[in-house]
Amino acid sequence: MTNRDISIVTGGAGFIGSSLVDRLLAIGNKVVVIDDFSTGRLSNLEESRTDDEERLQVISLDVRDSGVTEIIADLKPGTIFHLAAQVDLRHSVSDPLFDAETNILGTLRVLEGARKSNANKVVVAASGGTLYGAQDSGLLPFKESLSPNPGTPYGISKAVTMNYLSAYDDLYGLDGTALALANVYGPRQDPHGEAGVVAIFAGQLLRGEKSIIFGTGEQTRDFVYVDDAVDAFIKASEIKKTKFCNVGTGTETSVNDLYQVMSSLIGSSSQPEYLPSRKGELERSALDPTYAKETLDWHSSTSLEEGLLRTIEWFKKN
Ligand SMILES: NC(=O)c1ccc[n+]([C@@H]2O[C@H](COP(=O)([O-])OP(=O)(O)OC[C@H]3O[C@@H](n4cnc5c(N)ncnc54)[C@H](O)[C@@H]3O)[C@@H](O)[C@H]2O)c1
Repeated sequence: MTNRDISIVTGGAGFIGSSLVDRLLAIGNKVVVIDDFSTGRLSNLEESRTDDEERLQVISLDVRDSGVTEIIADLKPGTIFHLAAQVDLRHSVSDPLFDAETNILGTLRVLEGARKSNANKVVVAASGGTLYGAQDSGLLPFKESLSPNPGTPYGISKAVTMNYLSAYDDLYGLDGTALALANVYGPRQDPHGEAGVVAIFAGQLLRGEKSIIFGTGEQTRDFVYVDDAVDAFIKASEIKKTKFCNVGTGTETSVNDLYQVMSSLIGSSSQPEYLPSRKGELERSALDPTYAKETLDWHSSTSLEEGLLRTIEWFKKN
């Protein structure tokens, strides 16, 4: 039996990874999750584990472990979705070596596994917000043709993995796509992740606690709902030779506007407290989705209000 109907999802116990696992199982794939459970949780996979016990295997493993390459090589998967990462931007600043060990060396170990097993496809979670970094605001929403300007170790490690992906394609014909994700939000999101602000506000507003906004709150982000991001991973796995594309809505939403929409959906009249802005925080960000439409036939279909409603409902129950 060939294993090409197996998809590996590294980081599959995390926020985006577990939603991707749910989708892959729903469309009939066999899935192997590789995760060290540093931020991911087995509870994120609970529904899948009960429903699809035979088609889901979970391997508890750190991608920094040299064994990861051989495990992937032995599994001979069709597709590898690589989402395992050190996702905390501030931690990457305080411990850049740890960030590079996980996000660069860990990615290389996964790519080596892909090369050795002749995988059909590798899809990597890159980061659009940190890749482009600070740019002239006249260039918003940012296009793939812009020169990267990652200002943090996390942004650099994510940008470098995209270069490796491209090199593996040139050197070994390994078909890889890097998805430059905007700020993904939705159920199961951890407040500590890259776009944790939605999860943070949801928790605080539902508990009746005061939220803190750093800076004026007029800084903008591009919020994309997790199910839409998962659509992009699935499309990228089916389409050849798209090396890299944005996964965003192209729309800027300020942190103040996000707070107002969420507080009105929750029915809270609480006002946030403002503290000085944090070093290295981007002023404005939004990712142009035009190329994603052209190359993957992908666009985000969930409005911010609808996505926030679903997210708030999930946080209420959990
Ligand atoms: N959430 C966003 O808005 C966003 C934006 C841009 C890029 N990304 C990228 O998407 C991916 C998923 O992010 P997320 O938001 O779901 O975060 P997450 O923290 O929920 O998921 C990361 C997963 O990787 C696992 N992991 C971490 N280090 C590992 C290691 N050394 N070995 C094995 N597993 C490890 C964690 O346990 C977790 O399950 C990451 O690569 C992240 O950089 C996310």
